[in-house]
Amino acid sequence: MVDDPRTPPTGLPVRVGGAVGDDLERPSSARVYDFLLGGTSHGEVDRGLGRDLIDAEPLVVPIVRENRSFLRRAVTLLAREGIDQFLDLGSGIPTMGNTHEVARRVRPDARVAYVDVDPVAVAHGELLLGHTDGVSVSQADLRRPAEILDAPAVTAVLDLARPVGLLLFSVLQHVPDTDEAHTVVDEYLSRLVPGSALAVSHLSADDPRVDAAALRRVSHAYPRGPVTPRSAAELARIVAGVELVDPGLVFAAQWRPEPPRPGSPNGEPCCGHRAAVGFVRAR
Ligand SMILES: C[S@@+](CC[C@H](N)C(=O)[O-])C[C@H]1O[C@@H](n2cnc3c(N)ncnc32)[C@H](O)[C@@H]1O
Repeated sequence: MVDDPRTPPTGLPVRVGGAVGDDLERPSSARVYDFLLGGTSHGEVDRGLGRDLIDAEPLVVPIVRENRSFLRRAVTLLAREGIDQFLDLGSGIPTMGNTHEVARRVRPDARVAYVDVDPVAVAHGELLLGHTDGVSVSQADLRRPAEILDAPAVTAVLDLARPVGLLLFSVLQHVPDTDEAHTVVDEYLSRLVPGSALAVSHLSADDPRVDAAALRRVSHAYPRGPVTPRSAAELARIVAGVELVDPGLVFAAQWRPEPPRPGSPNGEPCCGHRAAVGFVRAR
């Protein structure tokens, strides 16, 4: 990890041949996000877009860090509540502090199916996690719930007859149609047994601290199209299928914050994503 993502990292950009080679020529959300987090799995084209995002909205670095911190707090809570299997959709590049590491601090037997649409993120995941028991990494578009839930990479790791933690961290803003985002989440939830859980974070359209329109404008450079930040009302609809735990749908930094660690460099809690965690109740 490097402290300032504007500093070129010392690690080499990923080199993956064959089918995913072309994807390295264009920026990807997974690699730009890795750059913003201070990782090393990105190329010049990703760093270029990452710098453009920072120029457009300098809070983008604290925004992604806060999202990562929410992932840790949400997965820890779910593991403490007894969830020991997770479906992590739009999981990105599995850098430090990923879902199975967090969950296994509480439940060493936790199982995780990582799914991402980006072939380079998946190639990274396979390299890093391919031999980790109880973990799978596969490529799919989260907008196809039935395909994902029946895919061998997922069914090999998850038992859908038992509660599952469905994780959607900073990914639904890549689904442009709000009705579709809502329907897709409900379709997953309808396949999960009571006691399952949903954890979501999502880029906000109506956080007065953040220029979401600027982030959307710059993100037109993504080959799959720009991000779609959403309002609190739109997000409330997307998470309506679960019973939210306190404090409900709030900015990520307000969701069960931890006391600041002495000497923590993170400064003020930031902004940008709204977040929520809830459980599927008996139908
Ligand atoms: C901002 S990153 C978030 C990564 C990770 N969830 C986290 O919070 O650390 C968004 C990720 O969603 C993935 N993604 C975007 N659209 C997707 C889709 N339709 N299906 C699956 N993954 C998608 C991107 O490839 C990228 O890895």
